[in-house]
Amino acid sequence: MIPKHTIDQIFEAVYIEEVVGEFVHLKKQGATFRGLSPFTNEKTPSFYVIPAKGIYKCFSSGKGGNAVSFLMEHEKMSYPEALRWIAAKYNIEVEEEQKSPEQMEAQTERESLAVVMAHAQQYFTEQLISSDEGKAIGLSYFKERGFRDDIIKKFQLGYNPEGWDTFTKAAIDAGYEKKWLIAAGLTRDKDGKAYDFFRGRVMFPIRNVSGKVIAFGGRTLKTEKKIAKYFNSPENALYNKSKVLYGIYLAKHEMSKLDMAYLVEGYTDVIAMHQAGVENVVASSGTSLTEGQIKLISRYTKNITMLYDGDPAGIRASFRGIDLILKQGLNVKVVLFPDGDDPDSYSKKVSSSELQEYIQNSAKDFIVFKTDHLLGDAKGDPTKRASLISEIVNSISQIPDNIKRSVYIQECSSLLDIEERVLLNEMNRLLRVNTTKQKSPSPYGAPPPPPDDLFLPPPIEIPAIQPGSAKNPYQTEAQEADFIRLLLNYGNYPVRLAIQDDNTGEEEEVNISVAEYLLEELEHDQFDLNNEVYKRIVARYATYLEKEEFPDIKAFTNSEDNEMAQACVQFLASPYVMSDNWELRHGIYPETEDMKLDRAVRDCINRLKLNNVMSLIQLTQEKIRESENDDELMLLLYEKKKLDSVKITLSNYFGSSIL
Ligand code: CTP
Ligand code: MN
Repeated sequence: MIPKHTIDQIFEAVYIEEVVGEFVHLKKQGATFRGLSPFTNEKTPSFYVIPAKGIYKCFSSGKGGNAVSFLMEHEKMSYPEALRWIAAKYNIEVEEEQKSPEQMEAQTERESLAVVMAHAQQYFTEQLISSDEGKAIGLSYFKERGFRDDIIKKFQLGYNPEGWDTFTKAAIDAGYEKKWLIAAGLTRDKDGKAYDFFRGRVMFPIRNVSGKVIAFGGRTLKTEKKIAKYFNSPENALYNKSKVLYGIYLAKHEMSKLDMAYLVEGYTDVIAMHQAGVENVVASSGTSLTEGQIKLISRYTKNITMLYDGDPAGIRASFRGIDLILKQGLNVKVVLFPDGDDPDSYSKKVSSSELQEYIQNSAKDFIVFKTDHLLGDAKGDPTKRASLISEIVNSISQIPDNIKRSVYIQECSSLLDIEERVLLNEMNRLLRVNTTKQKSPSPYGAPPPPPDDLFLPPPIEIPAIQPGSAKNPYQTEAQEADFIRLLLNYGNYPVRLAIQDDNTGEEEEVNISVAEYLLEELEHDQFDLNNEVYKRIVARYATYLEKEEFPDIKAFTNSEDNEMAQACVQFLASPYVMSDNWELRHGIYPETEDMKLDRAVRDCINRLKLNNVMSLIQLTQEKIRESENDDELMLLLYEKKKLDSVKITLSNYFGSSIL
């Protein structure tokens, strides 16, 4: 609780243009200030700040309010957070009335870390500039790399001396607690002996959006391969590396003013760009680019140009970055530097203006970039051309806005000289996969305790293909019955399902039900059961799931649909019957099927998947025979290749080679 008189004091002290000005580039116009709306992607400024009234008004989004509500809206702060933010800016002391012990503790931790970080930064800088060792080793290193004094100062670069605990000792002597030095990752503890984490390294302070030091990167000056070139601070209460960008504090104004951000790979690249006069630049240091970092950029601009090394690793990283950026609805261009050069090393070979020119002239829209790159080795190789098309369309399908998507499809069509129809088909297919692929956590709230800890690994992916309407010739009635049997008997059983994040590749688990798993896989793979009665059972079951309920089984056995009722009675009467590989399975689990349910569910789905893949392969072969368009033909062949490999995966699952 912030007391009333402090709140009054805060409102008296605040200048709205100064608060807003931290986030939006404002131009004075008479008695008001104007800028580009931070809430929309506008090109002409319609965002006003009126100091006399203490308010802002954004005509493109309709938002408006005072300094506090601006922070709440733009920075997503809570009311007290916004007040405290302003209080800190204007050095107003906030005496809290009552705080919970947890709040006290969290605040103490953050404050203590901030104090220690600020001290460390000053100490390291002092060492770099004034100590004999720092000058001889650290400063001369930076000078050798061509960093100017003003730039070294601007980035608050520093040096942590050699020696076991030089920094730690000095900090403790100066009154800082060892506990916080350790929490900040600056000091390590080995058998009760404290030592410096960054010994003999030049230091790059990492600052948050408001300029506070929250972490460090430390570069070794040794050339031995086995020593990591950079050490980065471990995460702490102030530093969440996936949400922090190196250089953001120094870049944010230029980023919104120029409505563009350069994204580079390393600390030194950011610094070199500043030295060359380019300030709208940030790096995703210490981690590969994350969604949180793109969100941070998108507060200031929706346009990102990636400046990456042209080596294979850089190209791979840029491809990954492109999709991640597109997915967030931002625009992305790419500049590659000659193989082996990064912006820093390249900037040492040319003048500042040549560097800027190079960047401007080589920036390619992602689609041109990808095409150029992939076309290089795809020339004359139709399979590679098909995989290239598929690659690019996949990127386009990440874009959330459908108008933008179709513009890119047109561009892709003319760039690659492919009929738009072919590309659209490919894209629609991918879109369907992407929308059904994201398994949402169960809507049913906390599931009842599971009969056993049921667990399913990520489902095997089947590439999406335009489904055929014909019946699946590979699927037997018994296999379909197995599916319905599991659905009706065990549909409401909870199961943990591993899913893979497309971007990070990390696995996480969601709780779903057996029914959701079965029906979602059916939908995701776009396959249908052949048996009309079973189809109706699935459809009816789905209407319950949509309402976030499980059906009472009587809804089926007493159904007005007589065929359905009879079939369901059969399934409930004898839960385990009539599987094709009954004998094989008999030995494994019939008596305790619910204990091995995960295995049974997987078997069932994978069997249907295998049937489906075989049927799709057949369908694709027919299309291949009929196709009269070269590009389409290549895409079909490419798809068939993908299907063949899924077929092998599935066959391996069943331990047989049904090839
Ligand atoms: N990085 C890291 N840990 C490493 C290597 C790299 O965290 N062991 C991060 C750093 O943020 C680094 C970035 O990845 O800035 C890019 O790495 P790299 O290109 O190897 O380094 P440069 O920034 O080019 O550094 P330098 O020019 O000093 O070699
Ligand atoms: Mn470098």
